[in-house]
Amino acid sequence: MQTASQIAALFTGPQVHRDVYTSPEIYKLEMQHLFANTWVFVGHDSQTPNKGDYFTTQIGDQHVIQVRHSDGEIHVLYNRCPHKGTKIAIDREGNTGKFFRCPYHAWSFKTDGCLLAIPLKKGYENTGFENTENAKGMTAVGAVQNYRGFVFARLAAEGISFEDYFGDSLSSIDNMVDRSPEGRLEIAGPPLRYMHQCNWKMLVENQTDTCHPMVAHESSAGTAVNIWKEMGNPEPRPPAMEIIAPFMSPYEFFENMGIRTWPNGHGHTGVHHSIHSDYSAIPGYFEALSETHGEERAKEILGENRHNTVYFPNIMIKGPIQQLRNFIPLGPDKTLVESYIYRLVGAPDELLARTAMYNRMINAPTSMVGHDDLEMYERAQEGLMSNGMEWVNVQRLRTEEEDFGEEAVENGTTERQMRNQFDAWVKFMTATMENA
Ligand code: FES
Ligand SMILES: [Fe+2]
Repeated sequence: MQTASQIAALFTGPQVHRDVYTSPEIYKLEMQHLFANTWVFVGHDSQTPNKGDYFTTQIGDQHVIQVRHSDGEIHVLYNRCPHKGTKIAIDREGNTGKFFRCPYHAWSFKTDGCLLAIPLKKGYENTGFENTENAKGMTAVGAVQNYRGFVFARLAAEGISFEDYFGDSLSSIDNMVDRSPEGRLEIAGPPLRYMHQCNWKMLVENQTDTCHPMVAHESSAGTAVNIWKEMGNPEPRPPAMEIIAPFMSPYEFFENMGIRTWPNGHGHTGVHHSIHSDYSAIPGYFEALSETHGEERAKEILGENRHNTVYFPNIMIKGPIQQLRNFIPLGPDKTLVESYIYRLVGAPDELLARTAMYNRMINAPTSMVGHDDLEMYERAQEGLMSNGMEWVNVQRLRTEEEDFGEEAVENGTTERQMRNQFDAWVKFMTATMENA
């Protein structure tokens, strides 16, 4: 049994204890506390555009359904029948019409979860059934917020508000959505799904790890760059080269790009420029965006080239390339990654083609680049089981007085954002634990 002070001792500031990545007990506590107390990404509202549309996913280890109710609102319900517990929806997505119907004894529920009907209901008369939790129907999660199409939920009924939790970090979602001439994103097909035999936090940390690309991706991106060089560096570079070559940028590039952190574990790389800054313009896009916003505002929107924004605990978005990666924990050493892409409504199709190409090249199970990272995570997961040293180091560019309650912009090779995540990890893990 871990107490709040024991959990807090696992992050010292410069170091993280290996149990945080390997212990089944810590993992269980993460599911109980961290994923219950934080605002976790569920899905995009364009995944359920019509009344009765639903899709199934997980918040931590909790199976949930995102569904569009008859009043047009998105609801997030636990995927569990209030009768005997049977999972209501097993398809990844579909349309359930006006109600869900349990396949076991046909209890049915409105799409906001309320009990609609029970066959042979008179059997419950005079039993006090109406006073039970079961009689209310399917349970909704604690709180739901649809922010510009992105649906987040907090499992706990009480806790930090959506606005306080995300604060100014929402500017990264704003920038991604503002890139649509109509101010709207639309899901573009199912996500690429990729299983990793490692702890989920390794993937989240990697999103702002700027000292690994030129090393870990040398075998893929480095090879591509070398072949291009042998060909005489012909211009213009095709989109695939524009995407992969920046992975081989030198340390100075990543130092100068900058990292911004916000309170509660959120942060992003690419404050000043990023690996997405130098993509070729797509004909007609700037014109379409200028028509909506005027040239100056359009330039401002496109001038923001944030690289990876981490929304703690477990997603990352790339505004300039309209992508979201969801790192779904399945066990202390098992993580499913879902990489979604979005269409900028009103923008030329070539933009979506580049976005899809990026996803295939970098994040697919068949990607050249994704395997480099997977190899590192899985080696780390195995390596951490070795005795001899109990601590992982996250000390790069750390100062004693750093304060994660303040927004900060620092050298892009700092590990401050990783420390920021662990600071938030302790905060939300212990918020509902004994002796917190
Ligand atoms: S378990 Fe769902 S109706 Fe009985
Ligand atoms: Fe990587």
